[in-house]
Amino acid sequence: MFFRSLLQASALLPFLSSSTSAQSTTACNNSPSLCSRAYNNMTHLGAHDSPFVRDKSTSFSTSGNQYYNSTIQLDAGVRLLSAQVHKNSSATGEDEWHLCHSSCDLLDMGSLTSWLKEIKTWMDSHKNDVVTVLIVNSDDATASDLGAQFASSGIDDYAYTPASTSVPKTWPTLESLISKGTRLMTFVASLKETSTQYPYLMDEFTYIFENDFENESPTNYTCTPNRPTGLTTSSTGGRMFLMNHFLYSTQLFGIQQPNSTYVNVTNAETGLGSLGTRLDNCTSVYGEAPNFVLVDFFNVGPAIQSVDKINGVTSSIAGRMTLTTAQPNENVDTGAAGRRDASVVAVIVAVVVAVAFGM
Ligand SMILES: *[C@@H]1O[C@H](CO)[C@@H](O)[C@H](O)[C@H]1NC(C)=O
Ligand SMILES: *[C@@H]1O[C@H](CO)[C@@H](O)[C@H](O)[C@H]1NC(C)=O
Ligand SMILES: *[C@@H]1O[C@H](CO)[C@@H](O)[C@H](O)[C@H]1NC(C)=O
Ligand SMILES: *[C@@H]1O[C@H](CO)[C@@H](O)[C@H](O)[C@H]1NC(C)=O
Ligand SMILES: *[C@@H]1O[C@H](CO)[C@@H](O)[C@H](O)[C@H]1NC(C)=O
Ligand SMILES: *[C@@H]1O[C@H](CO)[C@@H](O)[C@H](O)[C@H]1NC(C)=O
Ligand SMILES: *[C@@H]1O[C@H](CO)[C@@H](O)[C@H](O)[C@H]1NC(C)=O
Repeated sequence: MFFRSLLQASALLPFLSSSTSAQSTTACNNSPSLCSRAYNNMTHLGAHDSPFVRDKSTSFSTSGNQYYNSTIQLDAGVRLLSAQVHKNSSATGEDEWHLCHSSCDLLDMGSLTSWLKEIKTWMDSHKNDVVTVLIVNSDDATASDLGAQFASSGIDDYAYTPASTSVPKTWPTLESLISKGTRLMTFVASLKETSTQYPYLMDEFTYIFENDFENESPTNYTCTPNRPTGLTTSSTGGRMFLMNHFLYSTQLFGIQQPNSTYVNVTNAETGLGSLGTRLDNCTSVYGEAPNFVLVDFFNVGPAIQSVDKINGVTSSIAGRMTLTTAQPNENVDTGAAGRRDASVVAVIVAVVVAVAFGM
């Protein structure tokens, strides 16, 4: 009797110790099943023009591409944030690098440094997450210009430096990036010259190719390489694939705006020109899933659902905020108080889901 319980107890020991060590990396990017996946063997959900929000803070600017800010995007599972960076001179005539939509007169969301600080703050309290930042270098900032902003924000502490400037066959696993503390992947479109001082700034088109992004019709999406030029579907040089998946609509005077009226289909799993369908289509073209998808208004759909599906993530989604898929009514106050309540609800939903899946 005593002997038997001793045996049982010792049988439990390895189980207990392995479950404790597993606890320190219970989930990577919200899922235990993603920890052992190479960075380039999964799909990362990207928020197109992440800082350009269409909410009260911008008086619901029609130039806005997202209904929720970058912090909430990360809370809700987005792991790639793209932004346009423009040169904007300060009152004293010094160069400042700002996040502006097409032009700083149209929509100026502040300095690159303050946005990077916001992302760093999120990463400080989310230690099992790999985040990708994609800078659209609209005014040809040099690596030193951009690197200085990364350094002053402090986010460079997390930056991953590639082993070489040629395309790797396999990128590190999420687990490895997390354990080494190099959880920030930084790509710049484009960087004329890399810098030994800021070696973590990676030229996007050295490592990544994209399909066309200027699309206005749900029947006009393509999987074929558009940038960099000279690639074909059968010859992409081992680059990762970023799938642009959003629609523009052209307004008066030729001004392009995100098509928000069709986005519930654009970001859905099924339907004409839906994210789910397009992921399947491009997966069949390349024999593997796109590595990144870039969407507008990511909460609609929700886009994360198609990404979970293609990643094979079906349960145990740890610590992700669930947002409403509704498009905000621009006349209703969707202030911070309401969102805080939403995040409490999200935690409760996550717990209920975890219990239901027996996790
Ligand atoms: C990608 O991940 C899947 C799922 O874990 C695995 O089966 C496959 O072998 C991986 N492929 C590569 C090339 O690592
Ligand atoms: C800088 O941004 C402000 C708006 O924040 C704008 O009025 C000004 O024209 C910009 N300057 C340049 C040089 O882009
Ligand atoms: C879709 O593509 C076709 C063929 O290239 C083109 O003629 C048409 O103008 C495009 N539609 C839109 C809305 O851009
Ligand atoms: C958005 O796209 C849909 C589908 O092509 C189209 O019917 C609708 O008119 C577009 N909306 C705008 C505002 O252009
Ligand atoms: C998208 O929104 C339109 C207009 O509200 C609605 O008719 C349609 O059923 C919605 N489609 C999906 C897939 O949610
Ligand atoms: C895209 O995928 C859908 C369903 O997943 C399929 O019906 C359609 O034929 C595919 N189209 C192309 C061009 O591969
Ligand atoms: C992001 O939005 C939330 C909800 O509206 C708000 O509480 C938070 O202060 C915002 N964060 C930043 C950095 O703007």
